[in-house]
Amino acid sequence: MADRHPLIAGNWKMNLTVDEAVDLAAKIRAGIAERTVGADVVVGPTDLCVEAVSRELKGTIVGVAGQNMHKERSGAYTGEVSGEMLRAAGANWVILGHSERRQYFGETDAGVAAKAVSALAAGLKPILCVGETLEERESGRTLEVVLGQVDGVLAGLPENELAGLTLAYEPVWAIGTGLTASNEQAQEVHGAIRNRLATNLGSAIAEKIRILYGGSVKPDNVAGLLALQDVDGALVGGASLDAESFLSLIPPLPST
Ligand code: 13P
Repeated sequence: MADRHPLIAGNWKMNLTVDEAVDLAAKIRAGIAERTVGADVVVGPTDLCVEAVSRELKGTIVGVAGQNMHKERSGAYTGEVSGEMLRAAGANWVILGHSERRQYFGETDAGVAAKAVSALAAGLKPILCVGETLEERESGRTLEVVLGQVDGVLAGLPENELAGLTLAYEPVWAIGTGLTASNEQAQEVHGAIRNRLATNLGSAIAEKIRILYGGSVKPDNVAGLLALQDVDGALVGGASLDAESFLSLIPPLPST
């Protein structure tokens, strides 16, 4: 993890009503208050719950993320929500290009890059997701696919924002399946991403960008993943929906 401050982010996906989301946020708030926290912490409720969850978590260290947004500020885009709207509702982060968005809603690298530019302009910190499918891995194309996505989603981002970016490597075959990348598999891809960032952006920026791992992160495998050189945190689905399990993923402050 080098010197980068870890980030533990929960992606609640299409789960929880407003009341349920506020209840989970309240439990996380209480749990956070009781422990030392050695990471940035973010939760990602549905758009409908962003405002209520943000209110519940106000004054805590826990940030709130949207799970997607439209690239335009406003207009005739039925069913969509903009970065400005998320920001006004209390979000300060946004997850972009999640594999479920790519798989079910046709998102492309170029579309994700355009959303990232717009997110930054709206004052949101994007978490940019990349990851290969099982078929791509089995045909030996993991690094080609993932590094191509990294190049694609970073294209056109303002230079002064690059060091503050967060990427998330989520192998599609590990999401919601109970299969986790082995520590070796995770480090191989994270290290390759870091090298690509160093080549394209320079090593000073590459060393600052956080790269989260996602895909069946659980209390019993998180420590091994976070100990890897180029894994700077976790993007968590299922295990973020229960306060106890989510809280147990957050590393304590290292003792001095
Ligand atoms: P799971 O932790 O449920 O595998 O989901 C990972 C994910 O998609 C987080 O964005």
